[in-house]
Amino acid sequence: MSQSYAPTPEFTEQAVGQAALYDEAAADHQGFWARQARERISWDTDFEQALDWSQAPFATWFAGGRLNASVNCVDRHVDAGNGDRVAIHFEGEGGDTRTITYADLQKEVAKAANALTELGVGHGDRVAIYLPMIPEAVIAMLACARLGAPHSVVFGGFSAEALHTRIADADAKVVITADGQFRRGKPAPLKAAVDAAIDHGDDESPVETVLVVQRAQNDVEWVEGRDRWWHDVVDGQSETHEAQAHDAEHPLFILYTSGTTGKPKGIFHTTGGYLTQVAYTNAVVHDLHPESDVYWCTADIGWVTGHSYIVYGPLANGATQVLYEGTPNTPHEGRFWEIVQKYGVSILYTAPTAIRTFMKWGDDIPAKYDLSSIRVLGSVGEPINPEAWRWYREHIGGGTAPIVDTWWQTETGGIMISPLPGVTELEPGSAQRPIPGISAEILDDEGQPFTEPEKVGYLVLTKPWPAMLRGIWGDPERYKDTYWSRFGPEYYFAGDGAKYDEAGNIWLLGRVDDVMNVSGHRLSTAEIESALVSHSSVAEAAVVGAADETTGQAVCAFVILREGAEDAGDETVQELREHVAKEIGPIAKPRQVMVVPELPKTRSGKIMRRLLKDVAENREVGDVTTLADSSVMQLIQDGLKE
Ligand code: WTA
Repeated sequence: MSQSYAPTPEFTEQAVGQAALYDEAAADHQGFWARQARERISWDTDFEQALDWSQAPFATWFAGGRLNASVNCVDRHVDAGNGDRVAIHFEGEGGDTRTITYADLQKEVAKAANALTELGVGHGDRVAIYLPMIPEAVIAMLACARLGAPHSVVFGGFSAEALHTRIADADAKVVITADGQFRRGKPAPLKAAVDAAIDHGDDESPVETVLVVQRAQNDVEWVEGRDRWWHDVVDGQSETHEAQAHDAEHPLFILYTSGTTGKPKGIFHTTGGYLTQVAYTNAVVHDLHPESDVYWCTADIGWVTGHSYIVYGPLANGATQVLYEGTPNTPHEGRFWEIVQKYGVSILYTAPTAIRTFMKWGDDIPAKYDLSSIRVLGSVGEPINPEAWRWYREHIGGGTAPIVDTWWQTETGGIMISPLPGVTELEPGSAQRPIPGISAEILDDEGQPFTEPEKVGYLVLTKPWPAMLRGIWGDPERYKDTYWSRFGPEYYFAGDGAKYDEAGNIWLLGRVDDVMNVSGHRLSTAEIESALVSHSSVAEAAVVGAADETTGQAVCAFVILREGAEDAGDETVQELREHVAKEIGPIAKPRQVMVVPELPKTRSGKIMRRLLKDVAENREVGDVTTLADSSVMQLIQDGLKE
């Protein structure tokens, strides 16, 4: 039997989110968002209209409004007398720390903005950021925002190859990186990947300057005239910078995410609507009280969660937060809980894959620390199974902290479906219902909305929302095709399966397209397949996401070797796994690579991944009647048994 959890009256009494918000937003969608925008954000010029949807699916939010995102995240808190409030408690992996107040942050951002200006970065120029989880990552993003130069942050775990594609697609003129990053106690290289991404051979790089933060004291190659140390260029700059206001719809950032084809999509977000929704959701969903809470989101800045819930949401709200550089088990498996205890973290936002890992490490580890400061827990990235939910509440949340299971995407910019702590009776495993201001439905194969419980359909969003993506960088057609054509122009197709339960709660059931979710990271089957076939021994490849106890899904690859390529057993498998890591990044490394003689295909030549998934998950193989050659599956299975 499922058990739900009602909020306590004490929590409800102090909660930021209120039940009345649902009615207010339902009665006047645009009025509701206009109020959020005016109350939570400072505008240099007020907007004239909340939403203009006349060019659908290209939205304009807050037309006529002008603002500066960086000023909203930094300067206005100093102006309001909160300059002494800690913005960032930085904790390095090796235990080094930095305390950065809002007044400090203002100076650092001003210096970085002045430095970028000196390097020729102006309004509209793109800057790539390839940094570890250090304060300079936040400072660099805010400096770009200040100048109206859209940033494109590339996760530090991505390869030179992936970085190259992203730099080229966004036409970035500056790359900000570091001489290395600490991962599991070792200073790993980072700048070398930037060098390789720029010196790629096939085309001329748009990059004029590489700005390098000294973090790991690694030796790095140096290209005179192109490479500059951050401390040389930034440290001597003036600590003040007069910011200009930008149009509400000015692009704030591009963030690449995996789609169903091999080419990553540059999702781009604009300024006013995005900032409004991330500030609002961080307040009402995380129940943030900036004057008393210590907030910690454990995501990496290279993902959208880091953009919205480390940088823009919490800083727009004037929060005090923890920024941690390293991994959860360096130097020991209690590191997260040690940090919670040290800083008195009261709001923790992390991912189900991490929670399942902590469960595996054992209850005794968090039990050694004082976690009594925690009062709200959040989850993001994939469905959280009820067992992990209960463990999280019991062992991290003292048996009482509300958990917000937040569903959203790189494309949505901010949280969309989630309980509100203090308002919603919590149902473990379900993200429950759209937050006030957001509307969702579930459609059947024919595109008809339904509400019957337990029937599985497709999640769609039915009204534009302020933080929605404004497009795919350089490819408006792909934007329309991907999100607005599956069920017609009035439904945003999210790509997730969903169902209702008896109580009307929404349960998210994972992707319905060829996108996998590995440890909360989106990976496309096509992208990994093309990485595999770029290896000289591989003729063909098919990749599926197979269920995995810890990572949610795991990458399983089936490959056919080229004529003449020798199958050296384990050696071949290891080589191909490494090859994928090199082409995309270690997160994409297949858990398994199976060398097979054939792949199951339909008569029209489409690979039937469903059947391969059966094999990867050790299930009896399903219906093979649509295969061009129905003996193929037998051949594959016989081959794997050998
Ligand atoms: C999945 C991460 C179930 C979903 C913010 C979505 C979730 C994709 C949840 C977006 C959740 C994210 N419950 N599934 N609470 N949160 N997802 O773009 O499949 O990296 O489409 O954004 O993650 O991943 P993305």
